[in-house]
Amino acid sequence: MPDLTPPSDPAARPMEGQRPPLITALAAQVISAAVVFGVTAGTGMHVGLVVLLVLQGTGAAALGLWLGLARWWLPLQLLAPPAVWGALQLPIPPWIYLAVFAGLVLVYWNSAGERVPLYLTNRKTWAALEKLLPDKPDLTFADLGSGLGGVLLFLATQRSEGTFIGLESAPIPYLLSRVRLSLARRTNLRIFMRSLWMVDLARFDVVYCFLSPAPMPPLFDKAKAEMRPGALFISNSFEVPGHPADRVIELDDGRRTRLHVWQM
Ligand SMILES: C[S@@+](CC[C@H](N)C(=O)[O-])C[C@H]1O[C@@H](n2cnc3c(N)ncnc32)[C@H](O)[C@@H]1O
Repeated sequence: MPDLTPPSDPAARPMEGQRPPLITALAAQVISAAVVFGVTAGTGMHVGLVVLLVLQGTGAAALGLWLGLARWWLPLQLLAPPAVWGALQLPIPPWIYLAVFAGLVLVYWNSAGERVPLYLTNRKTWAALEKLLPDKPDLTFADLGSGLGGVLLFLATQRSEGTFIGLESAPIPYLLSRVRLSLARRTNLRIFMRSLWMVDLARFDVVYCFLSPAPMPPLFDKAKAEMRPGALFISNSFEVPGHPADRVIELDDGRRTRLHVWQM
């Protein structure tokens, strides 16, 4: 198994220190609620609760845009206050909300900080990835953000002589993938609960990722700095602005997956 020593350069952890959009959205809601409810209480105005909630949502949406949130946050910000109030009226014990919230956090751990949610590479893409693997007996492959481990399990089964490594930092996907891999009993496959920024990519012949637009520019810089000449860096769907891929493979699956392939 490859040694997974972290890169010593702190610049290799570029997503640290950026404000996650979820925090901006929550801050916009809190500020808007304070203004709307504060002004009505302070002036003694009699305004219906629904109107106040709509005003809070509108204020939060406008403030969020001003603070740099993407436009798709707008409807979420508008609807959040009435939706939360409506949910609180349902006869559901409060611990259920807490349990659902905790479960979502443990699955979508990287949505807020890294801006990468969980969605999975499909089977047609697994097969396309297999065709891209170099014909090398001691092949080493990494899936950065390995989710439920589907890509790794498929490739490790097809290429039993290679070594396949997954890095996953979301607790529930990590645990589920570990259980899945233990049941599959493959010895050429390991998944680590570790941030992809903390691993030196020099050990791998092929590095695959299916993340989001946000981490691609710094991740490409990291790949360029660490990967060996000739190694492959493959991004499912997400391009790197200013660095066109050497090859783009378009698949005929439902979502017209595009694999962007760079040879280092
Ligand atoms: C879109 S999913 C892809 C899952 C898997 N690679 C696949 O293609 O089926 C992205 C995964 O990356 C994980 N992730 C995001 N940022 C990460 C980080 N810094 N370190 C490790 N995993 C990360 C997420 O938790 C999520 O499971």
